[in-house]
Amino acid sequence: MSILVTGGAGYIGSHTCVELLNEDYEIVVVDNFSNSKPESLNRVREITGKDFPVYKADILDREALTAVFKENDVEAIIHFAGLKAVGESVSNPLRYYENNITGTLNLCGVMEKFTVNKMVFSSSATVYGLQDGAPFHEDLPLQATNPYGRTKLMIEDILRDIYTANQNWGIALLRYFNPIGAHHSGLIGEDPNGVPNNLLPYISQVAVGKLKKLTVFGNDYPTHDGTGIRDYIHVVDLAKGHLKALEKVLNDKGVEAYNLGTGNGYSVLEMIQTFENVSCQKIPYDIQNRRPGDIAISFADPSKAQRGLNWQAEKDCHDMCLDSWQWQKNNPDGYAATEKQTEVKA
Ligand code: NAD
Ligand code: UFG
Repeated sequence: MSILVTGGAGYIGSHTCVELLNEDYEIVVVDNFSNSKPESLNRVREITGKDFPVYKADILDREALTAVFKENDVEAIIHFAGLKAVGESVSNPLRYYENNITGTLNLCGVMEKFTVNKMVFSSSATVYGLQDGAPFHEDLPLQATNPYGRTKLMIEDILRDIYTANQNWGIALLRYFNPIGAHHSGLIGEDPNGVPNNLLPYISQVAVGKLKKLTVFGNDYPTHDGTGIRDYIHVVDLAKGHLKALEKVLNDKGVEAYNLGTGNGYSVLEMIQTFENVSCQKIPYDIQNRRPGDIAISFADPSKAQRGLNWQAEKDCHDMCLDSWQWQKNNPDGYAATEKQTEVKA
């Protein structure tokens, strides 16, 4: 029996593949490599010493997905495949709705056909929208402020409807806060296309000399130093949360949302300071206006995941920055520089 990992070559997917293989799960990866490189999966093999099938396939392609289910005894799906750039979703909403929503509908349709009804889905803290105060707990009213966020909200609703219609399904909706960091080996990590949108990849690229300086978006928020506060979570802790959620859906029926965060918030200036300390590099920065759409403070109430999944984050801000730095230092150009041919099934 295998766990099908859609989007398994991506940032969070590749770290989750490592944890699954370390726990002796058999896995099958489906990825169209629209935002990743096959090299990440070579590195997963290198870290774990284990091999697994990889299909270069698009979840929009129902025939290709059907072939994957025919050729493998799929027991459950961890569904990472999706587009995730908020700004791009505003300028190209159709691409986001099609890729994320139609892709998920296809996947669920094929799951239904093969009577596979266990899924762990990558949702996001973005479904909390513009809240007045943190921490965010799972029962808050949900809201989306951009097309990307709306795809996550809609998919959560679609999965709830699927469960209502057939109560054999077991579904975990994992709402990630801000994943950062990298595998301790320094072999896999976040490899954004072009100039990064997110804080940590931007800081890392300044530290390694690829970018000149960071822009801090606003120092007039109602926070202790005026900069935005987020709940950064180490990607390996996040990956381990997926294994706990997988155990849950394999053993239980139902549909439940869980926050995956640490419950602690750090400001932009605190992140810069910690990164400087661990890397011994200066991070030059400018303060500019707020970035439209950003909220002041976001952090999780992670107690439901602790109770329901027996999971909690273990790594602190120092570990996260150190592992991000280790990855960036070892791989200043991400996977591009060392990409080898990965064996890919058509
Ligand atoms: P990522 O872009 O690194 O990984 C997504 C993977 O899915 C990529 O390998 C990409 O090539 C693949 N993919 C995209 N569309 C596909 C399609 N149609 N068919 C097959 N493969 C496809 O992103 P990530 O950071 O690893 O995020 C994984 C998931 O978690 C996404 O759904 C994302 O929305 C969600 N998420 C991410 C964050 C974050 O900050 N990284 C926060 C909350 C939620
Ligand atoms: N920031 C800067 N400079 C930068 C980048 C970010 O000052 O160059 C600040 C932001 O203003 C924010 C903090 O750093 O205060 C974190 O920003 P990120 O872009 O790293 O993360 P966000 O919280 O804005 O966004 C993340 C995900 C989105 C998701 C959102 C809400 O990237 O996909 O959380 O859950 F929608």
